[in-house]
Order: sequence, then C-alpha cells, then structure tokens
Amino acid sequence: MHKLIIANWKMNPDSVGRAVRLARAEDKKGVVIAPPFPFLPAVYKVLRKSRLGAQDAFWIPKGAHTGEVSAHQLKHLRVQYVIVGHSERRALGETERMVNKKVKAALAEGITVILCVGEPWSVRKRGLSVAKRFVARQLRADLRGIENWKLKIGNLIIAYEPVWAIGSGKADKPAETAEMAKYIKEFSIFNFLRPRRESSTKSGQFSIRVLYGGSVTPGNAALFFREKGIDGALVGGASLSPKQFGEIVASAKV
Ligand code: PGA
Repeated sequence: MHKLIIANWKMNPDSVGRAVRLARAEDKKGVVIAPPFPFLPAVYKVLRKSRLGAQDAFWIPKGAHTGEVSAHQLKHLRVQYVIVGHSERRALGETERMVNKKVKAALAEGITVILCVGEPWSVRKRGLSVAKRFVARQLRADLRGIENWKLKIGNLIIAYEPVWAIGSGKADKPAETAEMAKYIKEFSIFNFLRPRRESSTKSGQFSIRVLYGGSVTPGNAALFFREKGIDGALVGGASLSPKQFGEIVASAKV
C-alpha cells in the first residue's frame, strides 16, 4: 500500500501569499496538505495532486458558536481530510468527549478523519506496554459509539504521535512505533471495525491505516516507511520546508 504523508502546517505561515507558495511547492501525489482555516480556499485552488486537509472541526453544523469551524462548513470548502484530537489541542483543554463528537461529525460529512493519539513521556518511560494501555484507553474514549457505523475502508486513520516526540527533535524508535501500530490496528479492528474483520484479514490487510508523527525528518523518515505496518507520516515542522518535505515524500516511494 502507498504511504500517506500529511503536512500539518499548524499555525503557519503568516500570510495567504506564503501559504499558496508553500502549497505549490509541496503539491505531490500521496500528500495531504493541512493549512490553517483562513488559507483553505486559496490552497485548494492551487493543488493539483495533493488533497486538502484541515486541522480541526467542530461538531455542530452551524449556529451560535463563536470562533468555531464545523465539519459541515469544511465539506463546502472541499476539505477531504481532518486532523482531530491533536495533542496540542488536547493540551488546551479539548476533552475526549469533544474529540469523539468531532470524529463522528467529520465521518458523517464523509471527511476522512486523522485521529491523533499518543502518550506523554511520564507514561512511556514506564515501558511500551504501559503506553499501549494508555493509547487503548484513548481510542476507546475517542471512538466511543462508532462500533456500528459502516465505516468505509480508509475513512478513519489513526496517527500515533507520542506527545514527547512532537516538535522535540526526538523521534520514536521505528521498531517500537511499528509494534504500537500493529497493536492499534488489532485493537481498533477488534473493538470498532468488527464487521469488516473477516474481509480485511482475508486479503491480509488491515482496514485501518496508522501513521507516525513526531519529529519526522528527511533523516529518519525512511526508517519509519521501511516498516510495513506504518502507513505514512504526519509531519509538522519539516512540512514548512519544501526541500525537507520533498525529501520525506521521496523516501516514501522507494
Ligand atoms: P513535528 O509535529 O513533526 O513538528 O514533531 C508533528 C505533529 O505535531 O503532527
């Protein structure tokens, strides 16, 4: 399966002109570009090969909710992917209940969800199995109630982003990420995608993709992509440099 690379620009750049230039430079197949809300229409216009993503989505379609942007509105802006539950948002007070509503609203609009999960260092330092339990609890809360949704293959993507690896320059070990990815797939299929289990295992492939995020650079991307169970990357800092991002994308294709 081809790797999927998400450019999470976060709150960058600072003008629509720069956003358009960056989008043109990073417009490649297999890439999703997630700019800040105000730049979505301009970026959409220049993309030829990449898909458009957003960094958050509110669950109520429209109404008196100052400052929010709904999944429904994003749909009108041709957004096809949305990042939900990023740890930088959770750190500001976004709860698992809110994440759960956002996941459901986006899926209901037909937008593919990139759900971010991952443990803090205080958990990981106690070992990978403790981290797995943390992530399992997060998934259970974030995905509560979607068991019976007829999820199309690919509509739900999990981004495993250990909090301590984000923006720190200290990426996870690819072999440990691969082990976590396998765990997330098995856990999700068993708990949430059970109706699909048979058909997905028959083909030898899981119906849910797991990406890695956290200090992905041109220097380490290939090591993650070499792992079969890691289906791509969520790239923050390095996605602001077309050169670095281009190298990351190129390393996914070899
Ligand atoms: P980073 O961010 O690549 O700058 O570590 C990743 C993310 O937060 O998605």
